[in-house]
Amino acid sequence: MPPKPQLNPFVETMDAPPIPAVRQALTAYDGRHGPVLDLCQAVPGYAPHGDLLVALARTAGDAALAGYGDIQGERVLRDALAADINSVYGGDVAAADLQITAGGNQAFFVMALALAQPGDEVILIGPHYFNHDMTLRMLGITVRVVDGDPEAGFLPDMAAIEAATHEKTRAIFIVTPNNPSGGIYPSTLIDALFVHCVKAGIVLVIDETYRDFLPAGSGPPHGLFAHQDWRDNFVHIYSFSKAYCIPGHRVGAIAAGGRIMTEIAKVMDNLQICAPRPVQHALVGAIDALKSWRDGNRDEIDRRRVAFERVIAAKGHWKIVSIGAYFAYLRHPFGDEHAMDVARRLAGDYGVLVLPGSCFGAGQEAYIRAAFANADAAIIDSLSRRLPSQWS
Ligand SMILES: Cc1ncc(COP(=O)(O)O)c(C=O)c1O
Repeated sequence: MPPKPQLNPFVETMDAPPIPAVRQALTAYDGRHGPVLDLCQAVPGYAPHGDLLVALARTAGDAALAGYGDIQGERVLRDALAADINSVYGGDVAAADLQITAGGNQAFFVMALALAQPGDEVILIGPHYFNHDMTLRMLGITVRVVDGDPEAGFLPDMAAIEAATHEKTRAIFIVTPNNPSGGIYPSTLIDALFVHCVKAGIVLVIDETYRDFLPAGSGPPHGLFAHQDWRDNFVHIYSFSKAYCIPGHRVGAIAAGGRIMTEIAKVMDNLQICAPRPVQHALVGAIDALKSWRDGNRDEIDRRRVAFERVIAAKGHWKIVSIGAYFAYLRHPFGDEHAMDVARRLAGDYGVLVLPGSCFGAGQEAYIRAAFANADAAIIDSLSRRLPSQWS
C-alpha cells in the first residue's frame, strides 16, 4: 500500500468547525415543541436596509467593478470608514491607515500572519472566540490563554496579563464587546493594556466587530486612536457583517499604522488580492445614510437583551454570568454535564440551538452561549416554555 499523503498536522488535529457540529444534533429534533429557536450563530435576525440592497444590485451589475481593485481596498470606502471611526472614537485615522478585508475573520487571519511566526506566542483572554484560537493554531502560533474573571464580565486581570507576557509574546488579542461573554472592556482597562503593550514592545489587537451595539450614549469605546503613537502598538479590527446585516457579502477592515500595513498588504495580496469590490462601493453612502437605522437596530437588540434577562430571571436554575451587545453567557443547571452534551440535548430534544462554552476554550464546560440578538422579543419569550430546568 502506498503511504497516504501527510496533511498539515496543525490543521488536521483541530476539531471541526463548531457551529455545524452543534447544528448536526438538530436532525434528531421532531418539532414537538414548535419551530427551532436558533440562538447559535451570531447573525442579525432582520434584513439589510432596502437602500443598501438596491445599491448592492447596482454595484454588482457595474462592469467597472468586475475587475481587480486596490489591495488595500477601495479608496472611497476607506475615506468613509476613516470618517466614521473618527466620529465614534475621536482621532486622526486616515484612508492610508485602513485595509479592507473579506470580513473580520479574514482581518484576524491577516493580522496574525503579519504579526507572528510559528513558535511565537499570542495572548487570548478566556473564554475566547473559537475562530481566533483556530487561526492562531493553524498558523503554528502558540496560544496562551489568560482566563477572564467570571465575576467581572470575564475581563482579565492586568497582573495576570503581565505575568503571561514574555520574550516570545507578540500580541494580545481582545474582543470588545466580547464574543462569547458579551463583556465590555472599560476604556481604563483598554488604556492599561495599551500601556503594557507599548512597554513590552508588542501589539494590542482589538476586534470590535460588535462596537455598533454598545449601549446608547456610552461614549467612545476607548481613546487609543487619539493617542499619538497608536500606529506602532495598536491594531483595530472591524466587521460590516453585523451592523449592516451583510455577513454573506464578506466585508471587514483593519486599522493599523504604516509599518504593520506594509506587511498586511503582502499577506492580503496572496490571500485575496482585494476584498469584493461591488459591496465596498455599495457601503460608501450607507455608512452615513444608515446611521439612524443602525442606532435603531442597536436599540432593538438592547430590548432583546432586556427580554432575555427577564425570561432567564423568571425561570431560575439557569444563571446569566455575563451579558452584553449580542451575547449572553449562561451557567447551565445540569451539574457536571459537559456543555457539548447539554447543547446537543437542547437541540435534539427541545429544538433550542445554542453554542456550548467548551467551544470557547478549556474550563468553559459549565457554560452555554446564547446569541439573543438573533431572535425578536416574542421568540425570546417563548424560551421560557422551551428551556428545561431539568431533563424530562
Ligand atoms: C468577534 C468576532 N470577530 C469576527 C467575526 C466574523 O466576522 P465576519 O463575518 O466579518 O468575518 C465574528 C462573527 O461572529 C465575531 O464574533
